[in-house]
Amino acid sequence: MSATLITRIGELMTVDDEDRVLRDAAVVIDGDRIAWIGAAAEAPAADDRVDADGRALLPGWVDSHTHLVFDGDRTAEFEARMAGQSYVAGGIAVTRDATRAASDERLSALVAARVRAARAQGTTWIETKTGYGLDVASEARSARIAAAGADEATFLGAHLVPAGVDPDDYVREVCGPMLDAVRPFVSWADVFCERGAFTAEQSREVLTAAAAAGLGLRVHGNQLGHGDGIRLAVELGAASVDHCNFVSDADLDALAAGSTVATVLPACDLSTRAPLAPARRLLDAGVEVAIASNCNPGTSYTSSMPFCVATAVLQMGLSVHEAVRAATRAGAIALGRDGSKGDGDGAIGSIAVGHRADLHLLDAPSATHLAYRPGMPLTAAVWRGGRLVVTTESASS
Ligand code: NIG
Repeated sequence: MSATLITRIGELMTVDDEDRVLRDAAVVIDGDRIAWIGAAAEAPAADDRVDADGRALLPGWVDSHTHLVFDGDRTAEFEARMAGQSYVAGGIAVTRDATRAASDERLSALVAARVRAARAQGTTWIETKTGYGLDVASEARSARIAAAGADEATFLGAHLVPAGVDPDDYVREVCGPMLDAVRPFVSWADVFCERGAFTAEQSREVLTAAAAAGLGLRVHGNQLGHGDGIRLAVELGAASVDHCNFVSDADLDALAAGSTVATVLPACDLSTRAPLAPARRLLDAGVEVAIASNCNPGTSYTSSMPFCVATAVLQMGLSVHEAVRAATRAGAIALGRDGSKGDGDGAIGSIAVGHRADLHLLDAPSATHLAYRPGMPLTAAVWRGGRLVVTTESASS
């Protein structure tokens, strides 16, 4: 692969350890890595040259929480919510039935289309979960399709106890044959620790079995009310606890003392009319906060990270810089891919020499436009591993 110089960058946000914001900057991509960063006037020559024409360059979004392996539609449930009903976990069974009925080819095509839609808005790394299979064969199939279609896959057999199944029997199945069947495809395990889903004891059992099988841990916690999810995630050393709408002082203290990332899901909060996750309070307490889309048919049918970033700024009180960091580097931390555990070579979520060349050129002079012009198509180009995968004509000025 040849070297590419991206020059005349109006605003370059590195979001790396130095967290620089450079003006009139340039970046050189060599192969799949970033080879050079600095002032445009000092940039070395390269095989190809891209003129950013004063526009902003960011790391690509790292979307650390999605549920893309599904078929079916939950519009009626959404309409009922907009008419005043609350979200309940039971809707998962509707998607389970539609997903089980879909062919492998159809599910793979649906995942591919959803990943393409995310890439078109600047997402360069995307995690996705199982959780709409809920039996051994269907979860194994979802895991295989998730691993093939997204950048990494998470086992969420513990999403809902199927109706008519004894909860203890189901947990045993999740921890035994289901875990064995998905193990070749996934690097993470997750559990929906919530009323109507899994108790703290059941969640602990699932997470402990998954850790013994060598999987990293993630938790859906404190989405529908106060509970044990956050503290359990921190206690077990989960990489991330996601949702965090209901955070007690004890939860906050636990997060601040531990290394678990608190991942907030702004689009989900809007779509379920939930109290917004207290991202500002979490950040002020020194907690690492990530933003993810939570794309799924029940609570958040969008993969738009720009929408989530804009909401975090406009509604959750984050600065643009904080929101960009949460949607890039903090997502990478939540997936253990920020480079902090090794030498940083090939890390994602930030722009630094040696990191993966996952870049997002905005059709705007600064990242501020993401919140200033919410909902506008502000992606001009996207590079993944050094390859230009999205490019659009300027149409949003
Ligand atoms: O993260 N909360 C649990 N899981 C998904 C929603 C699943 C569904 O309702 O289909 C979420 O919001």
